[in-house]
Amino acid sequence: MYGGGNTFEAMKATALVDEDPIKLAEFEARIERGEKIEPSDWMPQLYRKQLIRMIEQHAHSEIIGALPEGTWITRAPGFKRKLALMAKVQDEVGHAQLLYGAAETLGKSREDMIQDLINGKSKYSNIFNYPAFTWADSCFISWLVDAGAIVNQVANSKGSYGPYCRALERICAEESFHLKYGHHCVIHLATGTKKQREMMQAAVNRWWAPMMHFFGPSDKISVHSEILMKWKVKMASNDECRQQFLDMYVPKIWELGLTIPDDKLMKNEATGQWEYTEPDWDEFKRVINGDGPCNKERLAVRRKAEERGRWVREALLAPKAKYVTPLA
Ligand code: COA
Repeated sequence: MYGGGNTFEAMKATALVDEDPIKLAEFEARIERGEKIEPSDWMPQLYRKQLIRMIEQHAHSEIIGALPEGTWITRAPGFKRKLALMAKVQDEVGHAQLLYGAAETLGKSREDMIQDLINGKSKYSNIFNYPAFTWADSCFISWLVDAGAIVNQVANSKGSYGPYCRALERICAEESFHLKYGHHCVIHLATGTKKQREMMQAAVNRWWAPMMHFFGPSDKISVHSEILMKWKVKMASNDECRQQFLDMYVPKIWELGLTIPDDKLMKNEATGQWEYTEPDWDEFKRVINGDGPCNKERLAVRRKAEERGRWVREALLAPKAKYVTPLA
């Protein structure tokens, strides 16, 4: 079990039995017909809770995800890369805004979500708890982490909750630019000097394990997949997304002369499935529960941002606040 105190089984037991069975059946029939559920529609409490949990974690992943790449803006090699990376990082923060907005439609305030993030109560993606030591690490994130995110998000954008799906559609359009930018950066290094190629290879070696974790625990041990897939919040399972990523990107990585640090990685042509070394789920569990290499650092940055922005929020919310124009 990866979650905190409120496990899925406990939630399911307390939530579904209290629901009106007729309303529940109609809700499930609407989902079955492929209709979108909108904020003012009736929905079971468990659907609401699950969506808040998932969208909130997704939003946190976007703002925290901006940090490892953000540190490379000042050190990006050349003006064009700097401009592109700055725009990408800005996009990621914008994605968080869209997602917090979608989660707010379900009744949890943005302030509460941010508090839960900085207090360590909410999770965010495992992968952003690893350090981006070199420029090649930043290139890996831009290409392959964004590629993994697109696999997951394109699938879920066809899901059942209207505001989340609409946010995902817009996010995916922007992510596809990030992917092209990241691929271009990786091609440049992988076909560059010996030193550049080595730097890129070292980044692939460092990031491969977190990348395999990124899609979530294997379907055998995933806690929430069953109900999320039944209610079409998740449109592909964790393993299906992982397989799709491997199918689309391993050939592209190999094509560049890079290797992947997994001796068992191969496509079984008979089954059409990729075989790989089982990811270390203990490490995954540690990292998502606060004990990864950069968890403390990431949350400290967000806490500082929250403190530094307090005066702005207070000024905006003060009843007697006056807007003073520069010419007044
Ligand atoms: N990083 C951090 N936590 C993760 C994770 C990851 N890569 N994958 C799974 N988890 C957590 C889950 O949040 C859950 O914890 P909780 O019960 O405390 O909330 C636990 O591990 C069990 O996983 P699972 O039952 O498989 O969770 P899930 O059905 O929600 O699936 C995702 C996990 C990430 C696939 C799913 O939530 C998702 O698609 N999220 C939206 C996309 C997203 O957040 N992307 C992030 C980067 S852009």
